[in-house]
Amino acid sequence: MKSITSRFQAIDLVLENDPLLLVCAGGGVFLFLVVIVLLRVIKKSKLKLKDLKAKGYYQETPKDEVRGKKASFKIGVQLKRKKLIFTKYSRTMTLENFWQDKNFLEHIYGQKIVDMKSIKRFLRQPKIIIYFEDFPANYTEEDIKTPERGEFHVGITGTGEEQNQDIRDESVLGVFGQKSSGKSNAINSCITSFYKNSYHTKHFDLILFDFKLNDFIHHKKTIKNCSIFDTSDLEQFKRGVEYLERKLLEWTEYKRSVLEKGVQVQNFLDFDDPTNPKPMHLFIVIDEASQFLSNRSVKAPGSKASQKEKDNYERFLTERRLVGLVDFIMDTQRYMGNFLILGSQSSRAGDYAIRFTNIKSILLSRDTKAQSLNLTGDSNLLLDRSLYKGKFIYVGNGKLTKVMTPFIKTPFKPPGEE
Ligand SMILES: Nc1ncnc2c1ncn2[C@@H]1O[C@H](COP(=O)(O)OP(=O)(O)O)[C@@H](O)[C@H]1O
Ligand SMILES: [Mg+2]
Repeated sequence: MKSITSRFQAIDLVLENDPLLLVCAGGGVFLFLVVIVLLRVIKKSKLKLKDLKAKGYYQETPKDEVRGKKASFKIGVQLKRKKLIFTKYSRTMTLENFWQDKNFLEHIYGQKIVDMKSIKRFLRQPKIIIYFEDFPANYTEEDIKTPERGEFHVGITGTGEEQNQDIRDESVLGVFGQKSSGKSNAINSCITSFYKNSYHTKHFDLILFDFKLNDFIHHKKTIKNCSIFDTSDLEQFKRGVEYLERKLLEWTEYKRSVLEKGVQVQNFLDFDDPTNPKPMHLFIVIDEASQFLSNRSVKAPGSKASQKEKDNYERFLTERRLVGLVDFIMDTQRYMGNFLILGSQSSRAGDYAIRFTNIKSILLSRDTKAQSLNLTGDSNLLLDRSLYKGKFIYVGNGKLTKVMTPFIKTPFKPPGEE
């Protein structure tokens, strides 16, 4: 006890006598901490540089040669927030060099790379900035902004950019994925964002086909021009197909009347003639599409057939009429400013009676290696484990982008499900 007290006293004495020593001690501790932090940083970045070196990206260059002509390239690596920044010391190194080894870089950093940009500044070394995937934890319908005329919001990308679709570019969007992958939610968010634009509210008739309806019935309350058909009910299904047929015919006739006047039209969405008002544009949704666009065939029932067999045949004929209409929409309606969203569990062309390969804009959730290669040209893309509950690969305008669709809180449940 005694000795401890006396030691403290001794320290007190020294400090009292020599304030310089106090500063030195403080500075020493500070320096020590700085060195530890630095060592950690160096250790981390060294490991990464070593990996890059193995790949030939990073080469130590003797200092005296850096300014010489023979100097090989060297890059600096910096991790800032979720961005990885490479500083190039060579003007010949291109962005493509990095893209080619995207898989390798993803492996080193254990994160998905979603974008790379090269930034050149006057009198500074060019930099390559690599963006890692970073989706918001909570992305809902409240985050959807009002889209421009003809557009709807598909989702947000891993770098926080909005991915929209213009219905003047394609006439159909396919949404494919396993059960509970978020297809119906994705379709709902497309509808919700589309109808935020007041021009769309006024000029677009929403025509919905769904098996059992639960996912879409709430639009009836919020969208004025909305017709919903439950395809599990044969009479409703037939009525829906007839309705759609009539609406499409209106457009064919309208187009003829405009052409007869000798008027040139790029797209009827941007066209308005007060002397000859156009019909309502169409926003058509078919969910559970493989249920009624499937590649089955049913024989005509004989005279002794049961009612069930007759109904089954009747349903089959109705399906075939819808198949014809879907093909017609894909071929002709882009120019009319009409649009179709097709949701389905199956992403195999052979499962459909429609001309499936005409679908150029697609939202895809997790799928097999074969389907990934088939649909995206990359056999690994759809193996991504995070592609579920609202995360999809969006194929559009020849580009592949991973997106997250907004979560739609369904405000209305059908009777009996409260
Ligand atoms: N964007 C999203 N964000 C969060 N959860 C989602 C999202 N989309 C879907 N989900 C969840 O996944 C479940 C299934 O979605 P749903 O659209 O019904 O799938 P599918 O139509 O593919 O069967 C929903 O009940 C919801 O909880
Ligand atoms: Mg669904």
